[in-house]
Amino acid sequence: MISSQEIGAAGACFHKPLAECLDTAVNEVFPNVKKTQLKILDAGAGTGPIGIELLKLGYTDIHALDISQEMLNIAKDKGVPYRRFICCPLTEKKIDELETGEFDALISAGTLIKANVRPEALVEMIRIVKTGGLVCFSLRYNEVDDYQPKMTELEEAGIWEKLSGKKIPYYNREDMPSYGFGFVYKILKN
Ligand SMILES: C[S@@+](CC[C@H](N)C(=O)[O-])C[C@H]1O[C@@H](n2cnc3c(N)ncnc32)[C@H](O)[C@@H]1O
Repeated sequence: MISSQEIGAAGACFHKPLAECLDTAVNEVFPNVKKTQLKILDAGAGTGPIGIELLKLGYTDIHALDISQEMLNIAKDKGVPYRRFICCPLTEKKIDELETGEFDALISAGTLIKANVRPEALVEMIRIVKTGGLVCFSLRYNEVDDYQPKMTELEEAGIWEKLSGKKIPYYNREDMPSYGFGFVYKILKN
């Protein structure tokens, strides 16, 4: 069982605003699709706080990926109802067990840190999301510059379109306490 303490903790930090950032984009991009029908990957799921937030928002087809089986086991033992627990690293390499365009959306909280996940991995994160789907992630203030060149390159190549700060409210310091920025992109082609 997920304890009420866990539910509170997930909402108190940046997980709630980041999940809401994705939810706002979903309402814009998939206005006529039931949330329960959207297949979402939590990339770098850790112990599952984003899964908890997504559940609160009505999403049920949620899947977890993490490099650490230990973290996934904690999420599983807590009862975060991810449908799959996929233990593998996010890198620039193709993840064979995930199909191209398999997910409607991907969300990644606190995981894109250059020491862990190189900016080139954004290409693989895009591959597994369908054209028209969404990629949402947080970046710490001091990490934005590391990822920005790749984010801009993908935008200029017409691979994705930035929604945060344009069609979707910008999630910044005030919205994401003690963390950084929330980004959401719509995939134009993968
Ligand atoms: C700071 S934790 C964030 C976990 C969770 N999303 C949260 O917000 O609490 C970062 C997570 O990323 C995972 N991680 C680190 N490098 C990774 C990689 N290359 N691929 C997938 N997961 C990775 C770690 O095991 C850890 O669970």
